[in-house]
Amino acid sequence: MRIAYTSDLHVDISQRNWELVPYLAKVLKIIDPDVFVIAGDVSPELGDLEYVLDCFSGLQCPRLFIPGNQDIWVLSEEMQEKGHDSYEKYYFYLPDACRRNGFTPLWMEPMVLGGVGFVGSIAWYDHAGPGADSAALPRESHYLLDSVWNDMRWACWSDISMMMEGRLWPARRPDAEVAREFNLRLDQDIEAFCRDPLISEVVVVTHYPPFEALSVAGVPFPGSRDLAGILFSHERVTVSISGHIHDKKDLVVRNVRAVRCPVGYLKWDQRKYQDVVKDCLEVIHLIDREDFLPKGQP
Ligand SMILES: [Fe+2]
Ligand SMILES: [Fe+2]
Repeated sequence: MRIAYTSDLHVDISQRNWELVPYLAKVLKIIDPDVFVIAGDVSPELGDLEYVLDCFSGLQCPRLFIPGNQDIWVLSEEMQEKGHDSYEKYYFYLPDACRRNGFTPLWMEPMVLGGVGFVGSIAWYDHAGPGADSAALPRESHYLLDSVWNDMRWACWSDISMMMEGRLWPARRPDAEVAREFNLRLDQDIEAFCRDPLISEVVVVTHYPPFEALSVAGVPFPGSRDLAGILFSHERVTVSISGHIHDKKDLVVRNVRAVRCPVGYLKWDQRKYQDVVKDCLEVIHLIDREDFLPKGQP
């Protein structure tokens, strides 16, 4: 089974990011993978997300999406005051946009393909605050600190119970609580797959990285510290696909192959889009039972 993956398309950031997407789609058509995965951070604007997902409508294979932090931002204080929040995007608008455009909202609907289970979550982090001195960081890592500041402003996980208590503006839930809630659901989804004798391995797609080994030196780990333990506790988890950090990775953490292949913030350069695509799209091959069947046999 060939799994193609990318993340962090950030089409709202630059014209180059926007224009790259049809090239990604073209190359994917040629590669013709068995599954295609986007591990979050397309744009805070739903219209942009619809554009991106629609670009891949020519693909025959199942297409899976997981939202990133920028996808769940509510970019207007006025909207936030009216009670619109990130839960609304995560559980309603984003799944809706996926289904309308031929993508499976993986965090809502785990999927099985040829004996391989796919599950996912945004995998929110369990700590707040940048926790690093930006002056001590290389320039190319500053976006990670900006991301934390922007999350504090635009990521809005509301505590509805506070409204019940008569407050006009719902309070935000602490990051650790949000992380716990999403981790619990992911753990249950993996557990359900592990009880199924027809599923031999599980691929976990998250936006935030599950392992500290995926961090950037000098920047605090931008994920949930409980997540690695959850993945390790299920033997059938063999692959982790994540995003958020804008550099390519492919390593093995215990028995899990951990990969990411983001687009990131594209700078203006002389390279053609066809060449840029090579850095933002990767394919891994899982050996599955179909590999052992003679060609043409169902
Ligand atoms: Fe990103
Ligand atoms: Fe992100």
